[in-house]
Amino acid sequence: MSKDKTILRALAGETLPTPPIWMMRQAGRYLPEYKATRAQAGDFLSLCYNPELAAEVTFQPIRRYGFDAAILFADILLIPQALGADLWFVTGEGPRLSTITTQAEVDALKPVDAIHDTLSPIYETVKILSKGLPEETTLIGFAGAPWTVATYMIAGQGTPDQGPAHALKAENRPVFDAVMDRVTEATVLYLSEQIKAGAEVVKIFDSWAGSLQGADFEQYSLKPMQRITAEIKALHPGVPVIAFPRGAGERYKGAHAAIGADCIAIDDGITAEWAAAHVQTAGCVQGNLKSSHMVTGGDTLVSETRRIVDALSNGPHIFNLGHGITPDADPENVQLMIDTVRGG
Ligand code: CP3
Repeated sequence: MSKDKTILRALAGETLPTPPIWMMRQAGRYLPEYKATRAQAGDFLSLCYNPELAAEVTFQPIRRYGFDAAILFADILLIPQALGADLWFVTGEGPRLSTITTQAEVDALKPVDAIHDTLSPIYETVKILSKGLPEETTLIGFAGAPWTVATYMIAGQGTPDQGPAHALKAENRPVFDAVMDRVTEATVLYLSEQIKAGAEVVKIFDSWAGSLQGADFEQYSLKPMQRITAEIKALHPGVPVIAFPRGAGERYKGAHAAIGADCIAIDDGITAEWAAAHVQTAGCVQGNLKSSHMVTGGDTLVSETRRIVDALSNGPHIFNLGHGITPDADPENVQLMIDTVRGG
């Protein structure tokens, strides 16, 4: 039954006449209704941990636009928090965490199966969504990839070049590997609970994969995502996995096979034409409109949207942005993008 859903069909490898659509950060600050619910919740983390309100913001873009998929409203940094790191968000700046750079700090983390104590409200959100979404809408759960999550745990914040994580990797490999392993194991448990609660697809975000050079890209981006994918598929056969090694460039080629993912999400650093020739040949791709078009709109938005749809029309494709929509985007441009994809 659920196999009729367009997102699931594309993930199964079907080429559809019109690609299904959703958008990274589709519940977010560009929407006035999101801002109102977030104000009601108090702050961002309170919103994440309030199942009713987190479900409400997840529903908002579905109601407004009729996207083909809803993505759980939560954050990749809830895993470090559930493992015992302090986490807070500084308005206008971003996340802050207590740092982990020593073996003693790794040892002080909670055991992986303790994460559910913190994350059980997230599973509640998934249950509410699973019951309340329109029957044609696919529910996507997600987590951060170990490398990306580790970059925040090690630095205690976002960094332009992930310098502190690279430094720990170079200077104290056992501690770095211990952080990676802990996050990898916790992520399998977290995604598995999301699936039990009703997530039909899971996506792994490796937002900082692009800064891994040489053999590190394989070892610390592809391999941990491969391990998570294999374990999820062993526990939940048939659940599709989308992987997003952002910034991979020409290393997107071969990513489906290296990760074992059903779909590879591509950013805007490669062209749709190149992706059609080198990535889509191995399976479904998702992407890759520049988020800035949601700010600027107009004829360029229309022509770039059409270009991507055309370039990827000979294989399985889920239309999406190359990265998350930004707070300064105009909600009308989102409608224009959807009308262009659906209306030709
Ligand atoms: O895509 C979705 O709509 C689902 C929900 C979602 C959020 N974050 C909500 C959010 C998802 C999938 C994420 C993933 C996430 N979080 C990533 C990976 C994807 C990416 O963007 O590269 C990363 C690196 C994070 C960590 C994070 N969360 C940062 C760096 C920030 C601050 C930056 C910012 O945009 O303010 C957040 C906050 C955050 N996560 C917001 C949302 C809607 C904005 C919070 C607010 O309302 O103030």
